[in-house]
Amino acid sequence: MAGNRTFTMIKPDAVAAGNIGNILAMINKAGFKIIAMKLTKLSSENAGKFYAVHSSRPFYGELCDYMSSGPIVAAILEKENAIEDFRNLIGATDPVNAAEGTIRKLYANSIAENAVHGSDSDENAQMEGSFFFSQFERF
Ligand code: CMP
Repeated sequence: MAGNRTFTMIKPDAVAAGNIGNILAMINKAGFKIIAMKLTKLSSENAGKFYAVHSSRPFYGELCDYMSSGPIVAAILEKENAIEDFRNLIGATDPVNAAEGTIRKLYANSIAENAVHGSDSDENAQMEGSFFFSQFERF
């Protein structure tokens, strides 16, 4: 993933609310190609590993409990300038601060239950994609 790929999860709140289709439609409409995708569920242990970078934050326990509370959709997406364009599409972490028309503005419940994840760098996109997908599961 060099510059043109990012990793996303549609989080438990958005899956439970029936918003997988709406969110994927926005992702496709924005020009992202889906390279790999699966409906899956994180164990509490794997949620902790995925978000290990936040382990010293006060919300880490809540984050791991929430991210392992129900099914998620994990996907690798491809587009020129993928990291920045996807973060613009999803909006700010806290939906209160997200721009109108962004995925989080439309579908997030709160800063904790914020509908989608988007990688913040090429390096993290690579690591996060590899967390969920082997090289044989990517197109
Ligand atoms: P995400 O983009 O997946 O990356 C880290 C996640 O931690 C973030 O989305 C939020 O879901 C969560 N998060 C960040 N800040 C807070 C907070 N102040 N309280 C609860 N959860 C948070």
